[in-house]
Amino acid sequence: MTIDKQEIINVTKGEMRLRIIVTGGAGFVGSHVVDTYIGAGHDVLVLDDLSTGKIANLNTKASFEQVDIRDRDKISSLFKRFSPQIVNHHAAQIDIRRSIAAPIFDTEVNVLGTVNLLHQSVNRNVKGFIFASSGGAIYGETPTPAAEGNPKAPISPYGAAKAAIEYYLFAYMHTFRLETLALRYGNVYGPRQDPRGEAGVISIFAEKLLANEVPTIFGTGKQLRDYIFVKEVARANLLATDCLLSGLPMSLTPDELALNIATGHSLSVNDLFTRLAKITNFSKGPFYGKARPGELMESRLDVTRAERKLGFTAETSFARGLAQVLAWLRKK
Ligand SMILES: NC(=O)c1ccc[n+]([C@@H]2O[C@H](COP(=O)([O-])OP(=O)(O)OC[C@H]3O[C@@H](n4cnc5c(N)ncnc54)[C@H](O)[C@@H]3O)[C@@H](O)[C@H]2O)c1
Repeated sequence: MTIDKQEIINVTKGEMRLRIIVTGGAGFVGSHVVDTYIGAGHDVLVLDDLSTGKIANLNTKASFEQVDIRDRDKISSLFKRFSPQIVNHHAAQIDIRRSIAAPIFDTEVNVLGTVNLLHQSVNRNVKGFIFASSGGAIYGETPTPAAEGNPKAPISPYGAAKAAIEYYLFAYMHTFRLETLALRYGNVYGPRQDPRGEAGVISIFAEKLLANEVPTIFGTGKQLRDYIFVKEVARANLLATDCLLSGLPMSLTPDELALNIATGHSLSVNDLFTRLAKITNFSKGPFYGKARPGELMESRLDVTRAERKLGFTAETSFARGLAQVLAWLRKK
């Protein structure tokens, strides 16, 4: 299914109804992406194996299939049946420590599973493919804000898989004319992030403080991260969809197919704790545990390209984002 130029008006304004597959749409980030697409009037099919995702996260207006992205036959028949114009890929094994303990499993899901989706996208003439990459995991230490062209130093198999897929995106764009974009997220936070997971320090701290329990900060707490609110990330996905449909020049390099999606301001874990403690009236200090081996000290992201290419700037203030996390946890 190809989309002719006349149809390409402005998907962000809901002027065109698209069929969009969102993988990982029962997970934290993916479910907000689904909500945003549905809100803009699109038809969404969620593909998710529910390994970490939850039925409760699913938008009731989206269709859903429980499937593993590695399952070639099932993915092929679902692509055939739904005939998507856009594939938005958020399904992944996201646990960095698991990627170190079980790198082959990580590769199977994060590399082979993704190539399976790219392959089916080409078979079904999908117009555009969006990939959830990671600004935190592919640059390594960034004493100054990393722009997309910066050297890459993924230190975990998880980060290596993200970097590898970005090269596949480039290859698929050039060899098969599948238009692709990689969104390199900062540290995403917001409602639906599992406080019992490995990632998501904000959810973990917020849950502890609400229960009046002392959270553990691993290492000095001086680690810097760029925390971005999940609804901003979802909005960036909608803008990226628009950008893909407008057509990308074939002269782009792999790094030019990537966009950092972050706020451009990094905070230390200590600072984060202090802010959360203040708004939850928590009066105790944190517990400092042993530093985690291999953990990055500084993650800073330059966001000028996303501003220029997508017109995207994160607008939700940190205070407002934190308030929404707390409201969600209280309701839970
Ligand atoms: N949360 C962050 O801070 C962050 C930062 C950078 C990049 N990302 C990327 O964003 C994406 C979503 O992450 P998240 O934080 O929402 O995690 P999540 O675990 O909440 O979401 C991942 C989803 O993928 C599904 N899934 C996992 N393996 C699957 C498989 N084999 N087949 C089908 N579905 C499968 C899970 O059930 C889950 O619903 C991932 O690609 C992740 O690498 C997240």
